[in-house]
Amino acid sequence: VDSKFVPDLGSQSMESLSDVLQDTLMDLLAFGLILKQAHWNVQGPFFRSLHEQFDEIRSLIDTHVDLVAERLTALGMSPNGQASDISYSNIAEIDKGFLRDKAVLTAIVERTSQLARNLRERTEIIKNLDSPTEDLMHSIEIEIEKQLWMLRSQI
Ligand SMILES: [Fe+2]
Repeated sequence: VDSKFVPDLGSQSMESLSDVLQDTLMDLLAFGLILKQAHWNVQGPFFRSLHEQFDEIRSLIDTHVDLVAERLTALGMSPNGQASDISYSNIAEIDKGFLRDKAVLTAIVERTSQLARNLRERTEIIKNLDSPTEDLMHSIEIEIEKQLWMLRSQI
C-alpha cells in the first residue's frame, strides 16, 4: 500500500482539473492586482467607502488564491503564479491613472462579473470529476457573486 496518497483520477480528469484550477489562479491573481490599482486610484465623493471595499475584496481574493494553488499541489500538480502568465487572464486591466468613483465602480463590477462567469463555466468543466475541487470552486463562486451583488447595488 502506498502511504503517500495522491488522488489519481485518470490523466484526462487530472488535465481538466489542472486547467480549471490554473486558469482560476491566474484570474484571481489578475483581479487582485486590479483591485489594488482601483484602491489606490479611486477619487470622488465615494472615495472612502470604495477605497476600503476594494481592499476588503482583495483580502478575500488572496485567501482564495492560496486555496486554489494549494488544491493543485494537493492533487500533485505544480501551481504557476508568475507575473508574465497572469496576462493570459481575460479579466481586463482598468485604465491607468486616477479614476472617478463611479467609473471605477462600473469597471470593477464588469471585472467581477467576468470573473463570476469564468468560475461558473469552469466549474461546469470539472462537474463530477472531483467533488472536493468542485466544492472549492463553489465556495469561490458564492463569495464572488456575493461581492458582485454588493458592488452592483451601489450603481
Ligand atoms: Fe491601502
